[in-house]
Amino acid sequence: MLITPRLLAICKMIKDEESVADIGTDHAYVPIYLKKDINNNIKNLYASDISKGPLDAAKTNVKAFGFEKEIQLILGDGIKWINDYKAKINTCIIAGLGSNTILNILEDDSDNIDCYIISCNTAVAPIRKWAKSKRYKIEEEVLISDNDIIYEIIKINKNGGVKIKNKADIIFGPILRKQKPSKIYFEKWLLEEQRQNDLLVKIPNTEKKYKEILRYRNILKKEVNKVLFNEFKKNK
Ligand SMILES: C[S@@+](CC[C@H](N)C(=O)[O-])C[C@H]1O[C@@H](n2cnc3c(N)ncnc32)[C@H](O)[C@@H]1O
Repeated sequence: MLITPRLLAICKMIKDEESVADIGTDHAYVPIYLKKDINNNIKNLYASDISKGPLDAAKTNVKAFGFEKEIQLILGDGIKWINDYKAKINTCIIAGLGSNTILNILEDDSDNIDCYIISCNTAVAPIRKWAKSKRYKIEEEVLISDNDIIYEIIKINKNGGVKIKNKADIIFGPILRKQKPSKIYFEKWLLEEQRQNDLLVKIPNTEKKYKEILRYRNILKKEVNKVLFNEFKKNK
């Protein structure tokens, strides 16, 4: 089984958890890889999906690897089933969905879950904003390039990690923005700045939306310039 760089980065965030659930599992590559190559100490490993089609695909793959006893397949919407089963989950993985769908799923957050590993198809900032409002901290965050797309993957934890303090933390991540800036970090935010510049030329500057985008673009520009300035100082 060939695991993609994004899914591999997600799996590597699982450390010594005993109970893990992959929400929206689809092919079930994540739980299969976890069991096969990463962490054999997981006692309860769940793979759930809202649709029967993907869950059937998951079932076929789980069977092919002989993990029918180790991986429990569940047909269910988001994390509702965790509360219904009163299951205690150390980490829920929610990956490959947009931030709005993920935020809908997170509405059912409860004390039964300690951590989430989240990989959005869209911006991660709304998830960090939600995490801040619910007093989750950032345990880990990484940027991964996969198939020419840069993904931000975050692990949020109720019990420990780095606090999300302000707007810059929400946008860039409290860990990522304090690290020595990497090429991928610079590329991600330079691209995002360019995207916002492209939007600005299409919107009349009298519109409210223009002002919102301009404010966001200026935050991005400041961060990109900060990284450039630090590089310049280093090479001087
Ligand atoms: C694009 S796949 C992502 C598969 C895998 N998690 C990944 O990151 O590659 C999205 C999957 O999420 C499932 N899904 C969408 N909304 C869901 C929800 N509310 N609860 C559970 N699964 C959901 C879909 O049926 C689909 O199988």
